[in-house]
Amino acid sequence: MSAAAESADALVFFGATGDLAYKQIFPALQSMIRHGRLDVPIVGVAKAGWTLEDLRRRAHDSLSEHGGVDEAAYAKLVAQLRYIDGDYADPQTFVRLRETLGDACRPLHYLAIPPVLFGTVVEALGRSGCAEEGARVVIEKPFGRDLESALELNRTLASVFPERHIFRIDHYLGKEPVENLIYFRFANSFLEPIWNRDHIRSVQITMAENFGVAGRGAFYESAGAIRDVVQNHMLQVLCLLALDPPSPNEPDALRNEKSRLMSSIRPLAPEDVVRGQFDGYHDEPGVAPDSTVETFAAVRVAVDNWRWEGVPFLIRAGKQLPVTATEVLVELHHPPETIFDAEDDRRRNTFRFTLSPEVELALQARAKLPGEEMVGEDVQLIAHHRRADEMPPYERLLGDAMRGDATLFAREDTVEAAWKVVAAILDDTTPLHRYAPGTWGPAEADRLLTDDDCWHDPRGPTT
Ligand code: BG6
Repeated sequence: MSAAAESADALVFFGATGDLAYKQIFPALQSMIRHGRLDVPIVGVAKAGWTLEDLRRRAHDSLSEHGGVDEAAYAKLVAQLRYIDGDYADPQTFVRLRETLGDACRPLHYLAIPPVLFGTVVEALGRSGCAEEGARVVIEKPFGRDLESALELNRTLASVFPERHIFRIDHYLGKEPVENLIYFRFANSFLEPIWNRDHIRSVQITMAENFGVAGRGAFYESAGAIRDVVQNHMLQVLCLLALDPPSPNEPDALRNEKSRLMSSIRPLAPEDVVRGQFDGYHDEPGVAPDSTVETFAAVRVAVDNWRWEGVPFLIRAGKQLPVTATEVLVELHHPPETIFDAEDDRRRNTFRFTLSPEVELALQARAKLPGEEMVGEDVQLIAHHRRADEMPPYERLLGDAMRGDATLFAREDTVEAAWKVVAAILDDTTPLHRYAPGTWGPAEADRLLTDDDCWHDPRGPTT
């Protein structure tokens, strides 16, 4: 955990009339108010020619569509809400913001705006006195589109805010089952002796989505699966699975360990990746007819340290796959000798962490089938299973940022290290293979497997 900080005394969100505010921020604000976690002025900023009344209506529409309106909490939200309609390039917008903030001296500025505008807004916040001593800033991924632009973005942010006041949202880190990965690893003593190359044969992380780019074609064209989810969500999950235990005595220990782990990942080479694109991607609105952007990526990652030397970490992420599910499968070596049926030889113990849509933690083992013969079957020891009804990541993360706790946010050094990992496989450096919607991506992905391995496909929701 980060050192205790004073809570923010105002919440400003740029992009108040935009999509992210509509889908995520208003529901998170209402929920925080309902739970008594937000009682400071909330200032929306945008350039839309709107009034405060328009923004309140927008908030109501957003809540009706995303989770429902809680009348009491909504009434408080309306009372706390202010609105500034102004151009981000106009200094007057920020003069008005400073006036609206009144006595507030620790505002949290949430930049729910396109990344090209980050620089303009951050610098204007600095010039207008809105970024004094206690002020904080929250930004959304993508944090740059390669190492160079990430460095540039970090320089801009650092010219106005100290690193401890910069909160980079990777919403995966705000997910309860993702946090549980490190909790489960370090709250139990039985795992640590086997959590290394001596016992673990491979790790697979699969993020499957059974839909396409869902109307975000224009954005996706500038991203592709590697930039959209591999460089951030998937590598962050890998770090949580592989990092060393954080020391309770070291400030920011978890993020230090994550950074160390990310820096131990061997930069990916073209032969470590297979890119795919689903048939029909070109027909999505906003997509170029000859686009070579990948909607699927499989990568084989090596972690160069003593704990993980020789253990492949295989990541797959794709759109238009058979199910929507995110799952981690940790496979152990099989026993050194086959004593029972030959079938046992091909079966290995696994730990399965299903992160969504349901949350499940299971150990797969072999047990003897009743009868005279020594033959067995796979059994699942389900350690933990519940519906995914946790606090939504945005509420969790916004609450943490308001309190000044940066533990679950991506740090500059880790983001830059992650860009170094993918630097050599971005854009069209590797071939693009087609795949049919509803399949597990191009068959070429099998090339990344070794020996008699296979891909472990998540089965998706059980109901
Ligand atoms: C986002 C990506 O960061 O994560 C999307 O831009 C992806 O392409 C989404 O669909 C998945 O997040 P979740 O929480 O819905 O699994």
